[in-house]
Amino acid sequence: MTIATLQPDDVSGLSTEELLGRVRELKRELNAIILAHYYTLPEIQQAADVVGDSLALARAAEKNSADVIVFAGVYFMAETAKILNPGKLVLMPDADAGCPLADSCPEDEFRAFRAAHPDAIAITYINSTAATKALSDITCTSSNAELIIRQIPPEQKIIFGPDRNLGAYLIKKLGREMILWQGFCYVHDAFAETAMVQAKAMYPGAELIAHPECREEVLRHASFIGSTQALLDYTQKSPCMSFIVATEPGIIFEMQRRSPEKSFIPAPKDPDNPRSVCRQMKQNTLEKLYRCMVDRQPEITVDEHLSADALKPIRRMLEMSA
Ligand code: 13P
Ligand code: SF4
Repeated sequence: MTIATLQPDDVSGLSTEELLGRVRELKRELNAIILAHYYTLPEIQQAADVVGDSLALARAAEKNSADVIVFAGVYFMAETAKILNPGKLVLMPDADAGCPLADSCPEDEFRAFRAAHPDAIAITYINSTAATKALSDITCTSSNAELIIRQIPPEQKIIFGPDRNLGAYLIKKLGREMILWQGFCYVHDAFAETAMVQAKAMYPGAELIAHPECREEVLRHASFIGSTQALLDYTQKSPCMSFIVATEPGIIFEMQRRSPEKSFIPAPKDPDNPRSVCRQMKQNTLEKLYRCMVDRQPEITVDEHLSADALKPIRRMLEMSA
């Protein structure tokens, strides 16, 4: 089958390169920008205009001249892009790619949690639904949480959610009490301490680097702890030549691209599982990316009033971490 005989949506016979070419053509046609998280598949990262962590992608969604935003990530990310751009068409390759951490903090339960602590402000991780954001004072990501919390007067009580591991890490690092929502990311929470100790013994020259969504007993073995972007930057700066990477292994594609001479070992989840993968991020396939641009759907929509309420804490985050 040659490309010329294919129908626009019949791409099953195309190579990755050919499909990437089709995506680029459609991007020009639609005046679209493709945003992709570092945890997506390598071919999705290759197709993207901006590949980044949650904060970089929120910033890219805020400032661009495209008419259409195609978001290859998980639902809350595309939803945030729509909240920042109510007038633009926002598409996702697979709108069923949700974030279980975000979904672990439903609106009603979060409202009751806030009501139980009336004198506390709520700083909410961007990994949350629009409805939960709308009940919050400021959002944050793992890249700017420290910076934001440092700006809050010390006497002010803080609710932090939904990630308990990131919250516990920040409490320890900043020496500041916070009331934590007990959610977790199944990808990062799954790294077991025993597997980390074994991996370090197996690769004695490698540095263990970890995302703060990992448990404290894992973080305590790490040479460096940081957001996805901070981990990436660290691997470029560090003189070390190999790294055990305790976060979603999709980031290794960019780490390897930036430092081809270094080696990167995905941290094992436990002795039987060599890596811990985010299934939802991998739901973004190149074929679905292409199809969503051909079909102009699935389109992400957010109720107008909800969007206006959820925008406030997102804007505060962007202002406080400009
Ligand atoms: P960052 O992109 O802020 O590092 O967060 C990691 C994550 O789990 C995204 O869903
Ligand atoms: Fe959600 Fe964790 Fe996947 Fe990020 S890695 S999208 S926090 S489940």
